[in-house]
Amino acid sequence: MDKIRVGVIGCGGIAKRSHIPNLVSQPDVEVVAICDVYNEVCEVVAEEHKIPHVFTDYNNLLAMDEIDAVDICTPNFAHKDPAIAALQAGKHVLVEKPIARNATEGQEMVDAARKSGKKFMVAQCCRWLPDSLALKRFIDGGAMGEMYYARIQAIRRRGIPSWGVFTDKEKQGGGPLIDIGVHILDTTLWLLGHPKPVAASGATYTKFGNRPGIFGAWGPWDHTNFTVEDFAAGFVRFENGLTLSIESSFAANIEKDRMSLAIMGTEGGCQTDPLKLFREEHGTLIDISPTSLPASNMYAAEIRGFIDSIKNDTEPPVTGEQALLVMKILDGIYKSSELGREVKID
Ligand SMILES: NC(=O)c1ccc[n+]([C@@H]2O[C@H](COP(=O)([O-])OP(=O)(O)OC[C@H]3O[C@@H](n4cnc5c(N)ncnc54)[C@H](O)[C@@H]3O)[C@@H](O)[C@H]2O)c1
Repeated sequence: MDKIRVGVIGCGGIAKRSHIPNLVSQPDVEVVAICDVYNEVCEVVAEEHKIPHVFTDYNNLLAMDEIDAVDICTPNFAHKDPAIAALQAGKHVLVEKPIARNATEGQEMVDAARKSGKKFMVAQCCRWLPDSLALKRFIDGGAMGEMYYARIQAIRRRGIPSWGVFTDKEKQGGGPLIDIGVHILDTTLWLLGHPKPVAASGATYTKFGNRPGIFGAWGPWDHTNFTVEDFAAGFVRFENGLTLSIESSFAANIEKDRMSLAIMGTEGGCQTDPLKLFREEHGTLIDISPTSLPASNMYAAEIRGFIDSIKNDTEPPVTGEQALLVMKILDGIYKSSELGREVKID
């Protein structure tokens, strides 16, 4: 197999900004078709990148025998159906994060992937941030000892998305927790070695997005149709005794935006934003701040990982099962918020 021939479904922000440019720049990838429900969006992208086939119905794209893999960049409500249809049509699938709107949909996708024998990967790009890669090297090298607690944040002061369906619960599944919390949670679980979650509790609030006159750093949104939370807090227990707390917001009265994680271990501690490591050495507490990290294009690395898994017939770097575990935790926090008590995660 020389070139992997890819079709892209969904030609909005992330497809145009990251996926399509990084697919076409791979020497062994050919983007042969794109699809969006809006034909005019596709025509512009097809012209720019010299992509020969354009569709408004993804089933027509999937009917192309010459396509080996699809990259799904649609909103969350349109992840499951095209992914399952693509797997059933014998295509490998890369799907944007989160895996779906909830774990029930995610489970169906993972089952379809297993049945098809095709590669199935979820685009959790933040694993390829230079800081994430540095921490992974330290942790795998034994710098942390037993890791027992993580504190993570994906918080914005006034970063309510003003495009797409990010404020529509039915189409998105939730607000900041599922949209940006999913990034920091996935990165942290990857660093922790994917412990099994057993219970979650949480609370969600809508205090800004549904009010008129609130400042929007990213432009105006429709406050009359804002059905997601704008802040969520959660606490998660894992089978191995580890616990994790998470905060995620689109809007909150806080000092600054943060996408950060902190992990405590018996031999060391680590954090991002800023990247630091803490240890006790020879009876002295020390802080280590790594410098001169190699630059990395996380989107290019993510696409490369997917393509390599097809070419080498290896497990994709982000598996459906890992993404499903993340989704089960997010579901658990939302459910706990509704019920007002801790819930079990199966
Ligand atoms: N990894 C990241 O850093 C990152 C950043 C932004 C968005 N995302 C994810 O990417 C996905 C899309 O986000 P976006 O910001 O690009 O949204 P967007 O609204 O800008 O683009 C989505 C596109 O999908 C199209 N679409 C919808 N349903 C379709 C269907 N059935 N068939 C074909 N096309 C369809 C829409 O017309 C639109 O052009 C979301 O799941 C989001 O979570 C990831």
